[in-house]
Amino acid sequence: MCGIIAYVGPRQAYPVLIKGLHRLEYRGYDSAGICLMNKNLNIYKCKGKVSDLEKHVKGEDIGGTLGMAHTRWATHGEPNEVNAHPHFSQDKSLAVIHNGIIENYATLRSELKNRGYKFVSDTDTEVLAHLIYDILKHEKVKLEEAVRIALNHVIGAYAIVVLSKDNPDKIVAARKGSPMVIGVGEDEYFVASDATPIIEYTNNVIFMNDEEIAVIERDRPIQIRTVRNQKKTPYVQKMEMSLTAIEKGGFDHFMLKEIYEQPRSLRDSMRGRLLVNQGVINLGGIKEYEQKLLNAKRIIITACGTSWHAGLVGEYLIEDLARIPVEVEYSSEFRYRNPILYEDDIIIAISQSGETADTLAAIELAKSKGATVLGICNVVGSSIARATHAGVYTHAGPEIGVASTKAFTAQVAILTMMALKIAGSKGTIPRSKFQRYLTELEAIPDKVEKILTLDDQIKEIAEIYKDVKNSIYLGRGYNLPVAYEGALKLKEISYIHAEGYPAAEMKHGPIALIDEQMPVVVIATKNGTYDKVISNIMEVKARHGKIIAVVTEGDEQVRALADHCIEIPETEDFLVPLIATVPLQLLSYHIAVMRHCNVDQPRNLAKSVTVE
Ligand code: G6P
Repeated sequence: MCGIIAYVGPRQAYPVLIKGLHRLEYRGYDSAGICLMNKNLNIYKCKGKVSDLEKHVKGEDIGGTLGMAHTRWATHGEPNEVNAHPHFSQDKSLAVIHNGIIENYATLRSELKNRGYKFVSDTDTEVLAHLIYDILKHEKVKLEEAVRIALNHVIGAYAIVVLSKDNPDKIVAARKGSPMVIGVGEDEYFVASDATPIIEYTNNVIFMNDEEIAVIERDRPIQIRTVRNQKKTPYVQKMEMSLTAIEKGGFDHFMLKEIYEQPRSLRDSMRGRLLVNQGVINLGGIKEYEQKLLNAKRIIITACGTSWHAGLVGEYLIEDLARIPVEVEYSSEFRYRNPILYEDDIIIAISQSGETADTLAAIELAKSKGATVLGICNVVGSSIARATHAGVYTHAGPEIGVASTKAFTAQVAILTMMALKIAGSKGTIPRSKFQRYLTELEAIPDKVEKILTLDDQIKEIAEIYKDVKNSIYLGRGYNLPVAYEGALKLKEISYIHAEGYPAAEMKHGPIALIDEQMPVVVIATKNGTYDKVISNIMEVKARHGKIIAVVTEGDEQVRALADHCIEIPETEDFLVPLIATVPLQLLSYHIAVMRHCNVDQPRNLAKSVTVE
């Protein structure tokens, strides 16, 4: 939800900022802007993507060794040049970029208007520019102090960078609720929404905490204070992330690369944790909370989007294997519905980015009621990873494509290990089965590899259905979340309406939609409800719907009924989601490419949703 970057050092800022914006573009891509310090603050901005900004600045003065830039996902005000960031103060001496939402912006705006400030945009951000300027003018304080005073008037979430013409070597950055990382080079500093634009220059980073303000000045040490004016010592950490992990590596799209990375990302998520020979699962990050987990009377999983689907798989896993009741909650609902929480409840928050605002708020709520909160995050050092009591990283590596793929399977792998670990310790599954399950789980990455060889066959199916307007995805039991996730993947990147449904519920509504045009994707692997799913397929066929079935290798029965069968290797029921999701990812990908959609940056979406 908006990407921000700033730079000060010996290099020309423009190339660093533009490259950084490209890396952050997954966070928002409806408009972009840049501000370069070169005696004056030179601001260039436009509607569209970062590449449009590059065209827009052709022939302009883009010199300067200090600057900041922004790629936007609109919240207040439609995406256009005027609403794009940076925003100037009235006299153009100050400029601000912002990620987040200023909730009391309307009040601040009318107060500032009454004092004679003229607003040019519809954004909430512009109030910050005028407010900081107003404080500077009247209180005659340093820039950072004016920012601090201004932030004391602000309600909402923000990551901001402020530049001032009168402070040509200074960047002031602050955060609350939205992420911000500072890169510390030898004689240069970087500020960004995440570490991806920074790591090619330095591995030394400072993760800013909420309500902190950093003063980043050329050739001087960084200073950090809180909005309540307490001094903080900056804590520099080493970041482990390779450059190749955030580049396309020969694939046409990040999404395809990330789908293909799954054998590797799944192995990484299990490495050092799944110790088959010793018959052990080792989840170091939550070791301290193991006993609590074993004794838990209830587990609540909270997440959004694809991570919520992983949570649903988690519900089936933990209830089935570990026999602990589980509820799965959309974070956005959970946080506002006055949920009943007990101190012995365990909350598991799942988030790829670790920045989703609703999930963060759900965590804070659970903590305030005394519950224990464990995280499953992909981004190391992210806000959610830090806000939870303990957690397990998924180790899927950076996920750039907006539609989540490898992060989902890694989340499910972690939940599977959690469920098995509790089950093994509680004795809710016999030892012999436990050992067999570990062996089967270890074999999953190889099975995903095998499924990836079906890519051409899936492409042929995509070719047939690329022009449909609607589709239904059906599954039961462990495969229901797979159906939900398959439908979400298709709608978000191809803009084809897709609904995931419990197969048996189809007759209570969606069956009315079925005609000879309607593809119905059914996950019909050989598990407990196989026979029932076959009946559901018959019901679709009786209404001339088209069946695309994901089946277990060697299946004859569904093959005789379905229009297309995608065969996946046999595995235990509870492991099917880890492999059955993969062909559906490929199907969505190919359909979206054939429809000329922007697969990595689908319209209106953003990867990291830092607003509620
Ligand atoms: C956005 C992304 C999804 C993601 C969801 C939750 O909608 O486009 O891919 O599943 O946010 O994000 P999180 O980072 O918390 O998993």
